[in-house]
Amino acid sequence: MARTSKSGSSQGGSALKELFVDELKDMLWAEKDLTKNLKKLAKAATSNELKEAFNTHLTETEGHVKRLEQVFEAIGEKATAKKCEAMAGLAKEAEELIESTDEGTEVRDAALISAAQKVEHYEIASYGTLKTLAGQLGYNDAQELLQQTLDEEKKTDELLTELAESSVNENAAGESK
Ligand SMILES: [Fe+2]
Repeated sequence: MARTSKSGSSQGGSALKELFVDELKDMLWAEKDLTKNLKKLAKAATSNELKEAFNTHLTETEGHVKRLEQVFEAIGEKATAKKCEAMAGLAKEAEELIESTDEGTEVRDAALISAAQKVEHYEIASYGTLKTLAGQLGYNDAQELLQQTLDEEKKTDELLTELAESSVNENAAGESK
């Protein structure tokens, strides 16, 4: 989470901007890190549908990085990334799930979907906040860009739910291990 300096009411606007920029830096790190992790998830997945979903979201995530860079530009700030501990933790959890499930099983896919949905929910919460902050600060172009990414994160989350509810979890329930 971002840390901001305390300020009095007279500096309320700049403190809000500071929070906004800090959270943007967090997300830039998170999205860049996610491009690496999605490759691992796609490689680890059993079903072709899930591999495809991760690869599609990888392409989208590369777009999210570019969009965040556009947001920085739109508000006249340099695009810099700051380690996002939350995303780093979620990535570690995903790695542990890969290690603890067998390759080529449906249980592996169920675990990967679970890990990916935690990431999506984190991103949905973050972009929701960023969009609101952009609106409060009057950054209309930034707000529009953030909304576009938010919509894509929501779509990905829905797709993962569909995949979980269709074949993946049904088959996982039938596996002996
Ligand atoms: Fe994203």
